[in-house]
Amino acid sequence: MKNFYIETFGCQMNAHDSEKVIGTLIGEGYNQVKTPEEAELVFYNTCSIRDKAEQKVFHRLDQFKREGKGKKFIVLGCVAQQEGERVFEKAPHVSMVCGSASYNQLPQMLVQLEAGNKRITGLSLDTEDTFETPLTRRENPHRAYLTIIEGCDKSCAYCVVPFTRGPERSRTSASVLAESLELSRAGYTEIQLLGQNVNSYRDPSPSGWDFATLLDRVGCVPGIRRVRFTTSHPRDFVKPIIDAIDENPNLCNHVHLPVQSGSTRILNAMQRLYTRDEYMRRIEWMKNARRPIAITSDIIVGFPGETEADFEETLGLLREVAFDAIFGFKYSRRPNTPALALAGQIPEEEKTRRLTIVQELQREIQTRRNAAYLDTVEECLVEGFNIATGQWIGRTSQHKTLNFLRVASDNIADDDILGRYVDVRVTRAGANSLVGECVN
Ligand code: SAH
Ligand code: SF4
Ligand code: F3S
Repeated sequence: MKNFYIETFGCQMNAHDSEKVIGTLIGEGYNQVKTPEEAELVFYNTCSIRDKAEQKVFHRLDQFKREGKGKKFIVLGCVAQQEGERVFEKAPHVSMVCGSASYNQLPQMLVQLEAGNKRITGLSLDTEDTFETPLTRRENPHRAYLTIIEGCDKSCAYCVVPFTRGPERSRTSASVLAESLELSRAGYTEIQLLGQNVNSYRDPSPSGWDFATLLDRVGCVPGIRRVRFTTSHPRDFVKPIIDAIDENPNLCNHVHLPVQSGSTRILNAMQRLYTRDEYMRRIEWMKNARRPIAITSDIIVGFPGETEADFEETLGLLREVAFDAIFGFKYSRRPNTPALALAGQIPEEEKTRRLTIVQELQREIQTRRNAAYLDTVEECLVEGFNIATGQWIGRTSQHKTLNFLRVASDNIADDDILGRYVDVRVTRAGANSLVGECVN
């Protein structure tokens, strides 16, 4: 039996692809090991969303330029798709590159690899297939990722994903529900539906469900207590999604809705297909919902042509929405993308300055928002234990981290509490997490 090692970079889609790749490899008779040193096959599942992410895999590969004798190196994921055969030029010790749209071909490609072939490629994007595997090695024992839609049909001016993941393709609702039921039977209580744009989901079978319907039905699968979803695109974000959350308590009251910029002019240049006002209307739906919905977002600073006034509009939007959390990024020039050639590129120091301002403002907002949770009781899924602080790590439906101390009378053995749902009273609030005491 041959040993393989895999390291994964990038988003949750990549993390879950790796879980399916690992399942496939184990199904083919390979054995997973924890370090590259022990492995005969070394896989890197890569990300190219920003330049820094892309460089990581080449740093890793560099380390093995000399010591890698006897090992085979395989590059999967978005860098594989984007760079294709150029990977072999940059790192001649790589034997195989394969993008996510070709993972169904992995078993045949492994045969070629074992036969000693070099420069094996899986780079076609011309596919209607989704990657579904008989065996998936999920890492988290409580929360299961489940892909409902692959690829992306949008064409945001800064983004590589349409080039690295191919066209949008949805799984049938029947296959999503069957996997959800299987997950519930295997003991999972939380499902996270995945897609570059989950809400662009459209059931390819005759029932033709939209995303809101699918979301609600997954939330009705017996044994499933929490359903999350990521990422939603504002353009396709419709009111029925909020209605579903309002009506089905198993759907988590958290929406990640990346806005990228608060300036309609920049949104237009980014080809995001919505205006600031249209985005704010969606925020209003959520703020008017019956359940308190946590809202998180992504922000890009320093897109080409972003003026000080545009940037101020982003800050204004942050104040107005008061997100529960954001991921802020400096615009990074990416190959193939329309924004690469745009005039008005912003100097690196200026991007850094803007990002720091965004992060400082957001920290104030989060501190204020989280303080509102003091003294409330939140249901938490227990996800872990922090030895350093002696606290259990809980996750609320709103996706907040709530660290807590147990009470002696809760009558649950330590080994048994992981994966359970407990009620926790919030006693302290910081910018990034809450602290509390278990009350049951
Ligand atoms: N499909 C999702 C996002 C996928 S990428 C969506 O449309 O919302 C995750 C985030 O990375 C994006 O929301 C964006 O904020 C950031 N990102 C993508 N390309 C980038 C680039 N070239 N430079 C900086 N950040 C980028
Ligand atoms: Fe990239 Fe835009 Fe597609 Fe999101 S919607 S993956 S940002 S092209
Ligand atoms: Fe990165 Fe590809 Fe995901 S570029 S963010 S791994 S879709």
